[in-house]
Amino acid sequence: MEFSKLRSAVITGVITLGVVALAVGNRGVHAQDRVPTEAATEKPGKLPVPSRGETSWAPVATTEPFEKVKDKMSREKAAVMKRQKALLEQRYDLSDRPVAGVKMTRGTAVQGGVRVKPPEGVTWTQLGQMTPAEIRQKGLWPKGFLPLPHPSHDEGGMVFPVHHIEEIQKQEGRNLERFDVDFDLPRHFLPEFPPAIFLTTRPDLGDVSQGQLVTTQNFYELFDGVLNPKQLDGLRLLVSQFPQQQFNLTDDRRSVKPSIGVACFDCHTNGHTNASTHLVGDIRPQAFRHRIDTPSLRGVNQQRLFGSQRALRTVEDFTEFEQRAAYFDGDIAIAQKKGVNVLERGSEVHAMAEFQEILDFPPAPKLDVFGRLDSKATPEELRGEKVFFGKGRCAECHSTTIFSDNLMHDLKTERFFEPVLINGRMAVADGAIKTFPLRGIKESPPYLHDDRLLTLDDTVEFFNLVLGTRLADAEKKDLVAYLYTL
Ligand code: HEC
Ligand code: HEC
Repeated sequence: MEFSKLRSAVITGVITLGVVALAVGNRGVHAQDRVPTEAATEKPGKLPVPSRGETSWAPVATTEPFEKVKDKMSREKAAVMKRQKALLEQRYDLSDRPVAGVKMTRGTAVQGGVRVKPPEGVTWTQLGQMTPAEIRQKGLWPKGFLPLPHPSHDEGGMVFPVHHIEEIQKQEGRNLERFDVDFDLPRHFLPEFPPAIFLTTRPDLGDVSQGQLVTTQNFYELFDGVLNPKQLDGLRLLVSQFPQQQFNLTDDRRSVKPSIGVACFDCHTNGHTNASTHLVGDIRPQAFRHRIDTPSLRGVNQQRLFGSQRALRTVEDFTEFEQRAAYFDGDIAIAQKKGVNVLERGSEVHAMAEFQEILDFPPAPKLDVFGRLDSKATPEELRGEKVFFGKGRCAECHSTTIFSDNLMHDLKTERFFEPVLINGRMAVADGAIKTFPLRGIKESPPYLHDDRLLTLDDTVEFFNLVLGTRLADAEKKDLVAYLYTL
């Protein structure tokens, strides 16, 4: 099929088997997504896309000239973004509605209200009284509770919010823009930018960011005299760019000009997150890969599992893995082609990890040494805490003073819906996911591993259905007020 026709097949999202097989074909860029054989499309039965690809490997040599690919994909970008925008508008109320009096550390507003649209003619209370089977049979699982696709799921890769791209351009003259896709969620649903930085080693200093985005241009000035030389060198590496799938010097990149790459802090902005998105590296074929939201690195010192599903055991391991694998979609052959940077464990990985390990959560002035509310809390917050530890059952997984049991849990959301293909993303069972900590949670929207929830009110409605806890409206409201205190 002609390249442009192929892309429009993707965009119109026609769900006939043949067309979808091509839609997942990703314009011949990744072999794991190549058009599956007829036999493969028939075998798995009910799913609208084949459950396995022809191969796990992507082709190393590109067959189309760079200029041709760039021109085609640039022309198609508007349609890609339009399709994603339509999906977001169908699922969510995207209006800018901040909560009065609730702010992130440096004053950014927190968005309030349930933003996932309930299905037509049904209230949240009615949904809460139905069984998973009933919701599934009647097709009543809210669309916003389904996995969220990457803005260009068939292509995937790292995508940065425009305000980050602009600041990096200004400070370093480096361009993180892609010619084929832009970031999709509105800025008011994203974390504060640039975010505050708290150090476990120097709590007396408070926010040490001085309101700046930490880059190669200012890290030394900001941190010399505060960090030890090893941590300082680790920070240097965290703001340095290394080659990556879409940003590199080869001809299958997605930046107009050859790029020297991407820095850890291009996503983990100031050691926190700017909500940059990506596709998880460990799943094949493409349609089954999860969109992943950049997690904050605050409080990694107290965590024991890293990655939403990968469960690497140390920050050192994850640091090494990010560059060798995640930067290249878990493809070791492509990593060789584009110039993988092999970090040296003793001097580089450890230094990078040591800086990450001193990134603290923002202060929670209403929590005591046990992580419980003290006398400064309001009656509403105290009622919310009771729901969290009692009827809401949140603390059964969100335990300890970081509100995570450091384990993974399978929420089994597939009980509520039939498998469905959404803009190239096959929505099926997610499997077990890491219990992300809830300390400082109001500062790291959007929520869940794939950004599918925009506010904390959304997470309360989501867990009320997933856990079958039948919370009353007042209990939900109190619970949200409590989550703001963490
Ligand atoms: C595209 C933006 C992006 C870049 C660049 C990036 N990360 Fe990440 N990082 C992520 C995402 C997304 C995850 C979640 C991965 C998953 O769920 O499997 C993650 C996870 C992590 C984790 C585990 C956090 C947790 O809570 O489980 C660590 C540690 C980490 N990254 C460190 C790094 C380091 C070090 C670098 C640079 C070598 C880096 N990251 C570069 C997006 C990024
Ligand atoms: C059975 C264990 C379990 C229970 C009980 C539970 N959670 Fe979670 N929670 C998780 C897991 C696992 C995730 C990550 C899910 C994902 O990313 O897809 C999560 C994620 C979250 C997040 C988003 C975190 C982030 O960084 O994006 C919030 C907020 C949250 N839970 C709040 C709650 C509340 C409120 C309750 C009680 C009403 C609750 N949880 C009950 C396991 C649980």
